[in-house]
Order: sequence, then structure tokens, then C-alpha cells
Amino acid sequence: MELIYEGKAKRVYRLNNERLVMEFKDEVTAFDGLRKEVAIGKGRLAAAQTAFFMSYLEGNGVRTHFIDWDGDRRITVRALRMVPIEVIVRNYAYGSFLKRMPMVKPLTRFSKPLVEFHLKSDELHDPLLTMDDITEAGLLTREELQEIINTSLRVNDLLTNLLSTRGLILVDFKLEFGFDGSGRLLLADEMSGDTMRILRNGKHLDKELFRKGASAMDLVKAYAELNALLGVKS
Ligand code: ADP
Ligand code: CDP
Repeated sequence: MELIYEGKAKRVYRLNNERLVMEFKDEVTAFDGLRKEVAIGKGRLAAAQTAFFMSYLEGNGVRTHFIDWDGDRRITVRALRMVPIEVIVRNYAYGSFLKRMPMVKPLTRFSKPLVEFHLKSDELHDPLLTMDDITEAGLLTREELQEIINTSLRVNDLLTNLLSTRGLILVDFKLEFGFDGSGRLLLADEMSGDTMRILRNGKHLDKELFRKGASAMDLVKAYAELNALLGVKS
């Protein structure tokens, strides 16, 4: 397989015209790559989480790029033309929301889920975008943007409910979308502790631990704990 891209968290290989293989690395990074360590076992645990969440969403009518998980660190997905936007859904105030709205107390529950958009650009530090920015720059039409919002809110409902049955709170998460060959929008990339904040009795079972100074090994333990609670085979 030809390696076509290596990012911070994954290597992407081309399987054929329609399919890619995404390989989850053991590296964990934070603060725009400033802190970087090897977390042995993380790749497999994050691949397993992505397979679990995406299969669950597919089963509930959300179209995703996910096809198959190899039981280790690789998943096969549909090759998409990616929308260069990160969609963030927030149920509780945290992270970059608190940085721009410091008058709000951490972990305040919002009256409704908030949806926001950031340009996917490491150099520009993923700036916040308005809906007008997105449509005027020609990244998406109004209708496509509305479809992404609707899907993101549906994903939030499904995951909030699923996680609550395991005593877990979904604080926030990031989604990416892409277009398939027929022009349909599909949920893409990954869904794991690297892209979601999940609390159990006030303790993070996600990358926030590493951002707050925990060791790579403690991060792997937390991901394993999350998988055990979800009943994810890994
Ligand atoms: P980053 O680029 O942020 O460092 P990763 O290491 O996670 O991220 O690399 C994975 C890359 O693959 C990202 O650029 C992501 O947008 C892209 N991607 C995810 N799903 C698909 C897909 N189905 N088709 C094409 N590209 C995808
Ligand atoms: O992570 P940070 O505090 O900088 O940003 P945030 O906007 O508060 O992140 C909201 C959610 O999106 C968190 O669950 C992050 O893990 C996730 N996220 C991500 O997966 N990738 C990014 N580039 C930014 C945020």
C-alpha cells in the first residue's frame, strides 16, 4: 500500500481508488505538537474506539466512512474529498471555549449543545469560523453546512445517551466530514479519546489527561478503562 499522508495521529495509505487504510500511531501530541510522547498501545485503543463509535453511529442511520477494523491499529475507510473544517460540539464549557469566554465557569452545562467550526490549519492554529466565512469562501453551501450541523447534533444525541448508560459524560468532541464520489457527505476521520472529552466521576478518560501533564502510560490506562466500560474489544 502506498503511504499518502502522515499526520500527527495517523498514517494514511491508499488501498485502491475508493478505499484508504488509516493506521493509528502510538504517538500522543498536545499544544500544537509542542508536547509529544510515545504512548505504547494507544494506537490500537484509539482505532478500536473509532471502530466502535462509527459502527454504532452507522447502526443508527449516520453515514460514515468506516468500513472495517483489523483488530489492531488499522481501519479501512472510504476515500473522501475532505472538508477542511473541524466541527466541534460542546455540551459543557471547556478548553478553547473557556479561553475565549473566560467569564463562564468551567464545566457549566450549556442550555443546548453548541456547534462551532474551525479552519483545519496548523499554521493558523485552527481559527474559529463563522457560517458566512465558510459559505463565502466556497467551502460549503448553506444546505451542506446545515446538513453537517444536523448530523453533528444527531451524533451528539446518540453518543450522549450511549455514554450516559455507562456512567460517562460527553463534554465535547470534534468531527470531520468529507464528500464521497456521489457528492454525499459522510462522517470521517476518527472518534476517540484524542478527539472527545469524556468524564467518569469527574476524571477524564481522554487526551485532556495528557494536556494536563499525565504520563503517556496513564493516558493509555485511561483509554483502556474507557474501552472496558464501553465493552470495546481491544
Ligand atoms: P492531522 O492531519 O490533523 O495531523 P491525522 O494524523 O489524524 O491528522 O491524519 C489523518 C488525515 O486524514 C487528516 O488530514 C484527515 O482529515 C484525513 N482523513 C480522515 N478521514 C479521511 C477520509 N475518509 N478520506 C480522506 N482523508 C481523510
Ligand atoms: O483542545 P482544545 O482545548 O485546544 O480545543 P477545544 O476547542 O476546546 O476542543 C474541543 C474538542 O475537540 C475536544 O474534545 C478536543 O479533543 C477536540 N479537538 C480535536 O479533536 N482536534 C482539534 N484540533 C481540536 C479539538
